[in-house]
Amino acid sequence: MNIEVFTLFPGWFDWLREQRHVRNAEGLGHVLSPVDLRAATPLPAGKVDDAPYGGGAGMVIRVDVVEAALRARYGADPVELPGQRRVIALAAGGRRFDDALATELAAEPGLTLLCGRYEGFDERVHEHLASDVVSIGPYVLSGGELAAMVICDAVLRKLPGSLGHGESAVEESFSPALEGAPEYPHYTRPAEWRGHRVPDVLISGDHARVREWRRDRSRERHAALER
Ligand code: ADE
Repeated sequence: MNIEVFTLFPGWFDWLREQRHVRNAEGLGHVLSPVDLRAATPLPAGKVDDAPYGGGAGMVIRVDVVEAALRARYGADPVELPGQRRVIALAAGGRRFDDALATELAAEPGLTLLCGRYEGFDERVHEHLASDVVSIGPYVLSGGELAAMVICDAVLRKLPGSLGHGESAVEESFSPALEGAPEYPHYTRPAEWRGHRVPDVLISGDHARVREWRRDRSRERHAALER
C-alpha cells in the first residue's frame, strides 16, 4: 500500500515513520510519504489559503492549491483521482473513523490523505477532489495532521506482517472476531498486587473457560458503552 499525506507540515510525519510497526510495514514494501502541500502552489510566496467568502474568522485552504499539489504528484487531472483511489479529506465534520473503516481502507492499494489547517478546505475540495471526508472524533483539532496519523497507524497495523511476531490485529477491540465489542481485560504477573488478585479462571489452564470468560467480559464492556 502507498499512503500519501498532503500536509503543510511534512516533517511531522518523520516521527511516525520511525515507529516500529510503520518501519515493519515499510520493510514489507508499503510506503508512507508526506507531500508538501505548499510545494506546488500556483500562488506567490508559498501562499496556500485565503479569507472566507461571506466573512468570518480564519483562513481557508484554496481548492486550486490542493488541485496543483495533487496534479504535481499524480500527473492526471485531480478531479479524476477520486474515481481511481481513495482521496480522504480530514475534517471534524466528516464520516466518523472506526475499526470498520480502518479495515476497509487497509484493503486499498493506495490512499491519499489531505490535511486541512486553519478553517479547513474550501468545500469544493470535499466535493470534487476527495472521495471521502473523514473525522476522527467530534472535536476540533488545529489541523488534519494528527487525524491522518491516527488513520495511518490504525490502517498500517492491519496490514499482514506489520505487527511484530506473535502480535495480531485479528482479535482486538471492535474487530469482527469480537463481534465489534471492546477487548476483554488483560492481566500479567504479579498474580496478586496490593491484595488485588488476577481472576482465577485466567490461571486455571482451562482454555475453554478462559475463552468464555473473555467473551463475557468483552460483551459486558460493549453493553456498558451502549448505555
Ligand atoms: N481536522 C480538525 N478536526 C478534525 C477531526 N476531529 N478529525 C479529522 N480532521 C480534523
